[in-house]
Amino acid sequence: MPVILNLGAGSVAPMQKSDLANIDEFRDWDITNLDIYNSIVPYSPDRSKMPFPNADIRYSNVESSIPFGDGTVDIALAVSPYGYSVLNGEVHRVLKAGGVAVVIGSQRNKYVCKLDNLCSPALRPHFFDLFEVIPANDLALRSINYIAQRGSRVSSGSKATKLDFFGIYQKR
Ligand SMILES: C[S@@+](CC[C@H](N)C(=O)[O-])C[C@H]1O[C@@H](n2cnc3c(N)ncnc32)[C@H](O)[C@@H]1O
Repeated sequence: MPVILNLGAGSVAPMQKSDLANIDEFRDWDITNLDIYNSIVPYSPDRSKMPFPNADIRYSNVESSIPFGDGTVDIALAVSPYGYSVLNGEVHRVLKAGGVAVVIGSQRNKYVCKLDNLCSPALRPHFFDLFEVIPANDLALRSINYIAQRGSRVSSGSKATKLDFFGIYQKR
C-alpha cells in the first residue's frame, strides 16, 4: 500500500484518509502525520476521544527519527515547513528511490525561500528537482496541493499565508 508522510503536520489539521477518499489514486494510500510537538500525539487508547480519531498521528523528529524503514515511503509532504529542514538525511532514508518530497509553502517562509534551507549541500545531489514539472501532469500531486492548501491552518499566521511555492524533489 503506498505511503504518504505528512511532515510537521501541526496540531490543527492533520490529514486523514477521508481527505483523500474521493480521489481514486489515493483510495488505498496510508497517511501518517508526524510532528515533534507533543500535544498532537495521541495519548488515549480510545481513539474516538481524540480530536482526529481517523488520523494516524505520531510523535517524531523528522530530522532524526522518522518511524519508518529505509525506502518505504512514496511521498513525504511538507506543508509550511518551519523549524526543520525538509530534504534532510532522515527523509532521504525513508523515501523509496523515485519517491518524492513535496514542499508546499509561502515563498516568504525562510525554510522554503532558499533551497539551501531545504537541503544540505551534501544531500542536494541525491535529490532531483522536479519543480513545476510533475504538478502540471500528475493529478495525484495536484490533488495533494489542493488538500494542503485547504487544510493548512496552524501557527504563525499560516492560515492567512498564501501558499505560493510548490516544489517536488525526487530521490535519485
Ligand atoms: C508552521 S507549522 C505547519 C503545520 C502544518 N503542516 C500546516 O501547514 O498547518 C510547522 C510544524 O512543524 C513542526 N516541527 C518543527 N520542527 C519539527 C521537527 N524537527 N520534526 C517534526 N516536526 C517539526 C512544528 O511543531 C509545527 O507543528
